[in-house]
Amino acid sequence: MKKFNIAVVGATGMVGRTFLKVLEEMKLPVEKYTLLASKRSAGKKVQFMGTEYTIEELTENSFDADIDIALFSAGGGTSEKYAPIAASKGVVVVDNSSAWRMDETVPLVVPEVNAGDIKKHNGIIANPNCSTIQAMVALKPLLDTYGIKRVVYSTYQAVSGAGMGGYADLENGLKGEAPQKFPHPIAGNCIPQIDVFLPNGYTKEEMKMVNETRKILGVPDMRVTATTVRVPVFNGHSESINVELEKPFEIEALKDVLRNAPGLIVQDEPENGIYPMAITASDKDETFVGRIRRDESVENGVNLWVVADNIRKGAATNAVQIAAELIKMWSE
Ligand code: A2P
Repeated sequence: MKKFNIAVVGATGMVGRTFLKVLEEMKLPVEKYTLLASKRSAGKKVQFMGTEYTIEELTENSFDADIDIALFSAGGGTSEKYAPIAASKGVVVVDNSSAWRMDETVPLVVPEVNAGDIKKHNGIIANPNCSTIQAMVALKPLLDTYGIKRVVYSTYQAVSGAGMGGYADLENGLKGEAPQKFPHPIAGNCIPQIDVFLPNGYTKEEMKMVNETRKILGVPDMRVTATTVRVPVFNGHSESINVELEKPFEIEALKDVLRNAPGLIVQDEPENGIYPMAITASDKDETFVGRIRRDESVENGVNLWVVADNIRKGAATNAVQIAAELIKMWSE
């Protein structure tokens, strides 16, 4: 079998380190890995695939070597500058930042939902926002079976979603220290602001959920709204999703639709205290759904509670799954 070369950009970061973990687990047919980060980290040693790798500085020449796929998670600015350079040298970039997601020429992919879009790439494939990814895994089977009229998202997002700095703010905040990353203390608090505010009063994170949902599901005028909140949880995003379906449904049949969906695990035994939670979804690659119940205030409404590991399925796992699909395509 042909083997491929993969580069990881941002290999020292929160998502980058998880890229390495997931790559170790997935055992893709890879010949050579290149681990890149900023100048600050150049020369650092990391243990990976049973050997010691040296982190290299990301430069314009980093992609001159024979690289097939580059997994990027080094912030939007780095992706804006370096993803086109990599693509121009024949590398396929799987980018975890928001820089390219809404570009019409860039596929935005959750493999369980729209793997077919990968084929349309022009050198860059975008990994969606973490909160969007897990919602897509749960909503796609409902869209296909019942049609979707409207979606209301309310999120409870972990600090790991803000990278190392976010994680440190909760750890240090629990010891009484002032925040460095978030605009307010996160320990003992909920902050109804993720990313910056836009002129329409929504945050950028909220509008990412709205716009990315429409693009991934291929329904440009879908009615979607969101409130995104940072909560004092280390890892694992939770979401309340209220959905109005087009068609009537039986609740047991709807649960079966979710049970049969790829990448989704139904955990719904409220009488036994079983439902998805951040602490049980952490370190898993699947998305979990529970608290599945009819919304009795509207016609054909249903409420879901959806949880996933935002660093794994919400970022690293989804990107490595895209890389695996590319390798599968190239090997056919
Ligand atoms: P470094 O560790 O050298 O700063 P996180 O989101 O967890 O903070 O991680 C951000 C990741 O992006 C890190 O690996 C960081 O590397 C990397 N990074 C940030 N800025 C750059 C840059 N200008 N060039 C390359 N890598 C960068």
